Amino acid sequence: MNEPNAPATFQLPEQMSTVAGDVDWLYYFIYWLSVVLFVLIVGAMVYWAYIYRERPGHKAVPTGHNLTLEVAWTIAPLFVLAFLFHKGFQGYLDLSVAPANAMEVRVNAKQWSWEFIYPNGGSSDKLHVPVHKPVKLVMASGDVIHSFFVPALRVKRDVVPGMYTSLWFEATHTGKDDIFCAEYCGGRSQGPNGELPYNPSDNPEDPFPAGQATGHWAMHSRVYVESQEDFDKFLKSVGDPCEQYLSASQKCPAQVASAQGEKLYTSKGCVACHTTNGTRLVGPSWKGIWNKDESTDKGTIKVDENYVRESILDPQAKVVTGYTPTMPTFRGQISDAELDEVIAYIRSLKD
Ligand code: CUA
Repeated sequence: MNEPNAPATFQLPEQMSTVAGDVDWLYYFIYWLSVVLFVLIVGAMVYWAYIYRERPGHKAVPTGHNLTLEVAWTIAPLFVLAFLFHKGFQGYLDLSVAPANAMEVRVNAKQWSWEFIYPNGGSSDKLHVPVHKPVKLVMASGDVIHSFFVPALRVKRDVVPGMYTSLWFEATHTGKDDIFCAEYCGGRSQGPNGELPYNPSDNPEDPFPAGQATGHWAMHSRVYVESQEDFDKFLKSVGDPCEQYLSASQKCPAQVASAQGEKLYTSKGCVACHTTNGTRLVGPSWKGIWNKDESTDKGTIKVDENYVRESILDPQAKVVTGYTPTMPTFRGQISDAELDEVIAYIRSLKD
């Protein structure tokens, strides 16, 4: 894949990810196609309106209907549209499917801040990523719909309560860009005394410190693309909770979540139908099931966050082939936080 590295132009921000080149190519193709067609069509219209206008010695006569012409300009755009659909769909798929070796970062959005949780369990309110490494964001919202948007990376995706959405990117050079919320998510435009919707900070690097925003417009963060060494240093600086906790003979947050999940596995009664050692009971064993391609009555699916969530809340939606759909729903009996913990536990049950 080529690695676009173009600076900002009049129309578009700088290119900072592997997909930026393709996205921009399609954007400019549609843009210039529109410009050329506009000039040709409006130009011809103005020109003919002028030379065939009614004037002394010349009567304006309507030309009537021309079937060949009508058919031609109906069919011709179909080819252009088919081409645009093809390019657009291809780009959509490239953007949708993260490479298998992507580093996973959990994103929690809420009114009005972003939280990023790294593979080592450390978290920050700014996103740090290594350059030349695919990064997959698995995003959830604690309240309303938000939208994660980084212009220079050319990625944007809604963050929706009650489900997980994800996107991925690979940064092509070190640098930084803004993270915006691109979905109106409430808040005041002004305080009662006309004050700004946030407490502005003097630090230009951090105009909207986390927890200070009081509205959608200030739900801002930054992404820092760093060299692998700088990124490793950053990870240490947010604390490697696993190391810290282990030295205090406690468990790190990732392990705590999975330990909580293990408790839920018993207390919610999952244990009655699902084993964790690979043997079969009423339902599939949880061992080694994470990220597996399973065949179900609705086709092949990947066991990911959304499938596990759906299977707990709506067990009959996609039943693994060879099993009877007897599981009751847990809707209303399990919270979003508990779902996260059950998922953490299932993830920990490797083959
Ligand atoms: Cu969150 Cu707008």
